[in-house]
Amino acid sequence: MAAKSCLLSATILYFLLLGCFVISDAKQTSKKIRAKRNPCKSLVFYFHDIIYNGQNSHNATAAIIGAPAWGNKTILAGQNHFGDLVVFDDPITLDNNLHSTPVGRAQGFYIYDKKDIFTAWLGFSFVFNSTQHKGSINFAGADPLMNKTRDISVIGGTGDFFMTRGVATLMTDSFEGEVYFRLRVDIKLYECW
Ligand SMILES: *[C@@H]1O[C@H](CO)[C@@H](O)[C@H](O)[C@H]1NC(C)=O
Ligand SMILES: *[C@@H]1O[C@H](CO)[C@@H](O)[C@H](O)[C@H]1NC(C)=O
Ligand SMILES: *[C@@H]1O[C@H](CO)[C@@H](O)[C@H](O)[C@H]1NC(C)=O
Ligand SMILES: *[C@@H]1O[C@H](CO)[C@@H](O)[C@H](O)[C@H]1NC(C)=O
Repeated sequence: MAAKSCLLSATILYFLLLGCFVISDAKQTSKKIRAKRNPCKSLVFYFHDIIYNGQNSHNATAAIIGAPAWGNKTILAGQNHFGDLVVFDDPITLDNNLHSTPVGRAQGFYIYDKKDIFTAWLGFSFVFNSTQHKGSINFAGADPLMNKTRDISVIGGTGDFFMTRGVATLMTDSFEGEVYFRLRVDIKLYECW
């Protein structure tokens, strides 16, 4: 009886340990892949967001479309804009000049989603229409705006970027009050077709 339960415990222990090794091995492998793999494509773009402020409807590229009950759709709300939802259709350029010929549009939304710090959640696409690039790249992720750099996910693409995946590093390149900001986007694609 005692021998049998001992054998049973030994078997359970064996499988538990095996489980540990399998898990730690998988972790090791994913770390190794991350360290060793180089991106199959690297791209840098800038996009320019001009937020509607009550007076600039002719050149605004972004508008508040949802606001918390204590705010309104003209001015971003207090408490780090918590609850504001902004939709945008921003020009994408190859350099940091708003007036350079755009290669496409950054289209999507951001939601301010934390009261006590300045942070947002981004979901958008780069829709290209230039001689260099045709198609789109789709992005999603948290954007803690006060960080110098923020990584978001490249979750897919179409056309030249068919089925792509990777990481995009965002940097605030310019910030002028609550009306204009410019983001630099360093895209590293790890899956290219
Ligand atoms: C929007 O247009 C006005 C009038 O043309 C101009 O003064 C202003 O600088 C523009 N804003 C931006 C961010 O380009
Ligand atoms: C929107 O909110 C801002 C800031 O609270 C306020 O100054 C402005 O008058 C409001 N605008 C409208 C149209 O309610
Ligand atoms: C793409 O660019 C071409 C050439 O400039 C233009 O004719 C076409 O309307 C553009 N398409 C979109 C979806 O912007
Ligand atoms: C933001 O910066 C903090 C402190 O430097 C860091 O711990 C955190 O991982 C960063 N978050 C992102 C999403 O980059």
